[in-house]
Amino acid sequence: MPHAKVVLDRDFAIGDTDPRLFGAFVEHLGRCVYGGLFEPGHPSADERGFRRDVLALVRELGPTIMRYPGGNFVSGYNWEDGVGPVAQRPRRLDLAWFSTEPNTFGTNEFVDWCRAAQVEPMLAVNLGTRDGDAARNLVEYCNHPGGTAWSDLRRAHGWNEPHDIKFWCLGNEMDGPWQMEAKTATEYGRIAVEAAKMMRWIDPRIELAACGSSGRNMPTFGAWEETVLEHTFDQVEYISLHTYINNYRGDTVALLAAPDLMDSFIDEVVAIADAVAAKRRSGKRIMLSFDEWNIWYRTRRTRVARVKEGWPVAPPILEELYSMEDALAFGGMCISLLNHADRVKAACLAQLVNVIAPIMTATGGPAWRQTIFFPFADMSRHGRGRVLRSLVECDTFAANYYDPRGTIDQFFPIPSAPYLKLAAVADAQGGLKLLALNRHLTEALELDVSARGFASLAVAGATQLRHSDLHARNTQQAPDTVAPRPLDGVSIEGARIRATLPPASWNTIRLQPM
Ligand code: AHR
Repeated sequence: MPHAKVVLDRDFAIGDTDPRLFGAFVEHLGRCVYGGLFEPGHPSADERGFRRDVLALVRELGPTIMRYPGGNFVSGYNWEDGVGPVAQRPRRLDLAWFSTEPNTFGTNEFVDWCRAAQVEPMLAVNLGTRDGDAARNLVEYCNHPGGTAWSDLRRAHGWNEPHDIKFWCLGNEMDGPWQMEAKTATEYGRIAVEAAKMMRWIDPRIELAACGSSGRNMPTFGAWEETVLEHTFDQVEYISLHTYINNYRGDTVALLAAPDLMDSFIDEVVAIADAVAAKRRSGKRIMLSFDEWNIWYRTRRTRVARVKEGWPVAPPILEELYSMEDALAFGGMCISLLNHADRVKAACLAQLVNVIAPIMTATGGPAWRQTIFFPFADMSRHGRGRVLRSLVECDTFAANYYDPRGTIDQFFPIPSAPYLKLAAVADAQGGLKLLALNRHLTEALELDVSARGFASLAVAGATQLRHSDLHARNTQQAPDTVAPRPLDGVSIEGARIRATLPPASWNTIRLQPM
């Protein structure tokens, strides 16, 4: 049986995880809002139309911050359409997803929903069809206590207290030609810095994220970040990253290796941000907001999967059904995020409900967990604390990951991916959590961890997520096909932990001080 040897030391840390690392994303897209988290008339809905069954699953999933309202949608959004008396709100064509937006759910409802879900709201402003003026008005509407036209309008709408939104995204994927009023890096950098300046003048406590590239496979990646940060460096705290990994080619090995490219992407963006800082002789460090990440390909490339003709309200689009192999690759992405806790200070799983989501609903019916629900819940539950550097020694494999851009085929070689991908998190109580992915499809891995600097540990629990069929998935009829089970046989002697990780499995091992 192949071995994986891990050495870690309690004093050798990567960094503390920021609670915002465990975020997710709600866009006005398909059935994410309407028929997802908001469905007046649903048997479980509260008086505001919030589905309680979805809220319960959200709490179990454990996101900490929620990005809203897009995504591509935000680049054509007039936030004013979504506030005030519902009967007077306009219906609009949404050119991002070729749907009709009824605007019966807007900023205030979202903030209320966040409070019910116990998550922090994160708002994106429209820097596509609009500019700094609309953005600053939204900050005034949300965060100013009162006594001005916009803040008093909020109060007149029934929200007396300011929403106090701390985290703001300056637009969305402005490098992408699919975006409404996409921009060059210089055009975007200029509009973003001016918007940021005004937004911060209204509320100096806010934190701002500039748009980075919409993917590492974009032709402008690198140059985009550099130019945008040259403009915005003094006015932003974060630069964003987006990644959707795929398995277009049915190449499971490459899918499981793909999270290693996420590691490279993060390292590259850090290098560019720090180069911009160095040119200014600045000690300021721009942090990373990985504010869209997931697996997405089945419902991505064909128009029929993305668009339902006739401008419907809340069409069932981007309803990706996730498999066991997706859950494994997704777990690898969780580990990549944790192992960059020093610089990735916010991250949002895209998205939350129905649309490329961990939670699915039937309109009028039940809600259930997709396979990717479980690694995320594990990361959020066990990822709080200090991520330790772990030295992993094990066999590696090679892959050639296919990541097309439009009609252009592109391959990204991954010459040496270790079968074991692992994150180790020390908690404040002296315990240690291991999140471990065995990427070997046919062989179990003998895991042998030396946890230096830890006093005697005891096993507090261990789980595995696996299925003999890598294409197995959870459905409305069979919602528990893929679910975590106990991982037996974890042993510990002093600070030496041993376990057998089954082939193609996602595992958690929780250790507590004796
Ligand atoms: O999450 C789906 C879409 O992916 C978002 O709207 C957009 O930002 C990205 O391209």
